[in-house]
Amino acid sequence: MDGQKDCGMEKKQIEELIDTAIRQLEFSYTPYSGFKVGAALLAKDGKVYGGCNIENAAYGPTNCAERTAFFKAVSEGVRKFDAICIVGGKDGVLTDYAAPCGVCRQVMMEFCDPETFQVILATGKDHYDVFTLKELLPLGFGPANLG
Ligand code: THU
Repeated sequence: MDGQKDCGMEKKQIEELIDTAIRQLEFSYTPYSGFKVGAALLAKDGKVYGGCNIENAAYGPTNCAERTAFFKAVSEGVRKFDAICIVGGKDGVLTDYAAPCGVCRQVMMEFCDPETFQVILATGKDHYDVFTLKELLPLGFGPANLG
């Protein structure tokens, strides 16, 4: 960790999520960009949902790793989440953080409390930072705005 504030999660749990996210890189389908992304989504019931990016020859239907993980969970009736870990890089080489795109941040906003949901960006088990969804999506629009 790069010395940022305590996120309240145990280091062991963060490391397990990083491990799981890295393992998803193997399934990443990226014949067009070669940019591989893996995600590990921790549900409040303790279950972890993996996800990878899945590209498409028509480009637009490409699904990001984060949304793959969310949609796997939600499609099984799970809608409450504590954290997501995201890793990624060109050809699966983890040199920098792979921050979630705007669409994925918005999907997180749909199912997660922006004040407490933790987004872990990592390049390995020894290098990560943890952000709240609110830090990544300030003034986000979500279900609460619709009353
Ligand atoms: N990608 C993700 O999987 N997550 C993100 O949040 C950003 C982008 C993927 C989509 C595409 O397969 C590749 O990275 C390059 O944009």
